[in-house]
Formats: sequence, C-alpha cells, structure tokens
Amino acid sequence: MKLAHKVAVITGAGSGMGKGAAILFAAQGAAVAAVDLDGAAAEQTAAEITANGGKAIALAADVSSSAEVQRMFDQAVARFGRLDIAYNNAGTIEKSELLHEIPDDDFARVLDVNLLGVFYGIKYAVPHMMKAGGGAIINTASVAGLKAFTGKAAYTASKAGVIAMTQVAGMQYGRYNIRVNCICPGIIYTGMSRAVHREQFGKELDPAIKGRISALRRIGMPQDVARVALFLASDDAAFVTGAPFVVDGGYTTG
Ligand SMILES: NC(=O)c1ccc[n+]([C@@H]2O[C@H](COP(=O)([O-])OP(=O)(O)OC[C@H]3O[C@@H](n4cnc5c(N)ncnc54)[C@H](O)[C@@H]3O)[C@@H](O)[C@H]2O)c1
Repeated sequence: MKLAHKVAVITGAGSGMGKGAAILFAAQGAAVAAVDLDGAAAEQTAAEITANGGKAIALAADVSSSAEVQRMFDQAVARFGRLDIAYNNAGTIEKSELLHEIPDDDFARVLDVNLLGVFYGIKYAVPHMMKAGGGAIINTASVAGLKAFTGKAAYTASKAGVIAMTQVAGMQYGRYNIRVNCICPGIIYTGMSRAVHREQFGKELDPAIKGRISALRRIGMPQDVARVALFLASDDAAFVTGAPFVVDGGYTTG
C-alpha cells in the first residue's frame, strides 16, 4: 500500500483522470475526498470506492470559487483529520476558435477553472499540509502547456500557467516538506478528449485507435496517468518537486 494512512483531495474526480486516480489512490490505502462540480458524479466515484472496501467521501465544489475550494479542503480535513495529498486536476476547455474570435467570457472561464482553480488548490492545501508536517501537491497541466494546441489559445495559456505556477510553488514550499509537481498528459481517453475529437472531426474518438496518435501507437488511458500521479503522491517521489511530468506516449517529442 503506497498511500496507507494518507488523506487525498482530488478534484475533477467525477470522471476521466480524476476518477481513475481516486480509485487507484483509495486502493493504495488513501482516504479520498472525491470533488467535482458535478456532485452526482463525485458521489458515484465515492460509492465505487466504498463498495470495494475503500474510504471516500464525495464533495461538490467549483474549483474556480476561492470559497468553495477552501471549504472542500476544510471538509476533507474535518472528516479525515489531516491532508497529505492535493490533486488539483479539474479542468475545462473552450471550443476551437481563432484567438481574436474567442468571447472574453469564454477565455476568462477557462483561465478561472484551469489556472485560478490550481492557484486556490495550492493556496488552501498548503496551510493544512504545513500542520501535517508536509504533503504532496499534484496539478494537472497538459502537453498543451509545452506546445501550442492550435485552436485553443485560452486552454494553452492556462496550462502553461499551471506549469509555471507549479515550478514557483515547488521552490517556495520545499522547506516545508511540501512537494509540488504537475502532470502534462497527452491525448488521454476521457470525456474531454472525446468532446474535442467530436468537435474537430465530427465523429467519435475510438479508444482502440492505433498509429500516429503516440509513439506507443495507442491513446492514453486514465490509468496511465493515475499511476504517475500515484508515484508523485507517494514517498517514492520524496526527492521530486517543481517538475512537470509528461505522460503522452511520446506525442510531444515526435
Ligand atoms: N483528456 C485529455 O486528453 C487531457 C490531456 C491533457 C490534459 N487534460 C486535463 O486533465 C484534467 C482532467 O480532465 P479529463 O480529461 O479527465 O476530462 P473529464 O471531462 O473526464 O473530467 C474533468 C472533470 O472535471 C470536472 N470539472 C470541470 N470543471 C470543474 C470545476 N469548475 N470545478 C470542479 N470540477 C470541475 C468535470 O465535471 C469532470 O468530471 C483536466 O485538467 C484537463 O484539462 C486532459
């Protein structure tokens, strides 16, 4: 058990990569607060964990709200007694447009969820982790933060911001034994990638797609990312901080 006695808060845990991580972290012994804007989806994740003998609660919160993020950490600590892991994973994306055609509100919404959401996720996790004597923060960036995702100016800017903020936070909190890293997933089969594929190609994304989608000739699955998140959350990553982890099957390199 890599996360025995640890308490984890995971946002965007109602589906996709957040759900995959919630299930894996709980199977590795963590008590998990599964957080999502979609409270019913968070409940479903928590129910799957408890049905398998794990510990979980579901919380509904919008990560773009400072007050709601603060409250979600407070509720998790009230329930489980401490905070060891914050996985700031919830995210959203705009529809594909030329930058000058993006409505101001759409740009702001993507930045509010993806960048401010991570800012709040660090800001309100840190005091609890200081009390616990340390912790691990994992933020979800994207390969879009390293390389332009054509048609997605707000998303690309937000994810580059997450990488930069992760680096700064890693430097600031090392002395408190709080490690801060981020994951840059490539194309992973989730609700978000399915929606983007539908928008761009007018058809469903095939989970069995082969070929040039990555050097490994397949699409990533939520579990591929969850396993890297588990490493970063665990003591195996004790000397790892301020780092972006690319999990893309070689997509960015090729
Ligand atoms: N799927 C990919 O190919 C891919 C690639 C790189 C990065 N990402 C990032 O991975 C993260 C997880 O996305 P996913 O691919 O699993 O998609 P997903 O749509 O399956 O999951 C995202 C979850 O976040 C929740 N959410 C959205 N806005 C929220 C908010 N304001 N507050 C709380 N919860 C909110 C949604 O309800 C949903 O359950 C996102 O940050 C996304 O940008 C995805």
